[in-house]
Amino acid sequence: MIKVVICGAFGRMGTTIGSIISKETDMQLVGGVDIKKGTFFDVPVVTSDELPGFLSSVKPDVVIDFTIAQAAAQNVPVAARTGCAIILGTTGLNQEQRKGIDDAIAQGEVPAVISTNYSIGMNIFWTLIRDAAKKFSDYDIEVTEAHHRYKKDAPSGTARTILQILQEEIGPREEVFGREGMTERSSEIGVHVIRGGDIVGDHAVMFAGNYETVTLSHRAYDRSVFAEGAVRATRWIFGKKPGIYGMKDVLNLS
Ligand SMILES: NC(=O)c1ccc[n+]([C@@H]2O[C@H](COP(=O)([O-])OP(=O)(O)OC[C@H]3O[C@@H](n4cnc5c(N)ncnc54)[C@H](O)[C@@H]3O)[C@@H](O)[C@H]2O)c1
Repeated sequence: MIKVVICGAFGRMGTTIGSIISKETDMQLVGGVDIKKGTFFDVPVVTSDELPGFLSSVKPDVVIDFTIAQAAAQNVPVAARTGCAIILGTTGLNQEQRKGIDDAIAQGEVPAVISTNYSIGMNIFWTLIRDAAKKFSDYDIEVTEAHHRYKKDAPSGTARTILQILQEEIGPREEVFGREGMTERSSEIGVHVIRGGDIVGDHAVMFAGNYETVTLSHRAYDRSVFAEGAVRATRWIFGKKPGIYGMKDVLNLS
């Protein structure tokens, strides 16, 4: 039985993942963490300052974090040093926060999956973008993403991963975030962010040449696609050797 604690228990992703795990037969939800105490799916939810004691008492195998960058930067190192495997989905981490997490995972000698997007479709989409970028290396490139009105970070972690792939294949190119006024296009990647309503997650990459454009796009219709991926990663990480893995390892895409 894989014992699981979810950080961000009362959030959109935490609730969706909790709902799936509470019905799995090989997993046991043993608790949650959020900014207020309470219960979810009949297990206790504690605050982050109670996390070290809570982890020592419930002894989870895996801690899943879908919170905000600042919280993940505190909670994930605590979980790693306690010896728990990590599934990290929180986006918007700065370099210092990410380094702190990576160091704690190394010090704790635990296995972790870190991904800006746990959907299977997006992970396959990333491989398509990499392939397309090689072939359209002299085309103009524009990246567009849209999310719900409550999303805190922009551009999305997924869009940042798309930019990283493009830079690895055809970079370095300047990244221009939106345009206003008198602008002249040079060799750059344009990045455009839309926020509104309850959009779960749209991403598109346009390769534009003379007289033609090619656009690759991905749309998530329900956040259960991320949650199902995170649960799949939880099952996969259990018993793995220490180290940081990606969803491409979970899905055997590499
Ligand atoms: N990797 C992926 O596939 C993927 C998919 C969707 C969302 N996300 C990311 O996951 C994160 C959460 O997204 P969401 O839509 O569920 O957000 P949300 O705002 O609905 O939930 C975040 C939760 O974290 C809680 N929280 C804040 N500070 C905390 C702390 N110190 N300790 C514990 N909990 C704390 C909040 O109270 C809230 O309940 C975001 O960073 C988002 O970008 C990643």
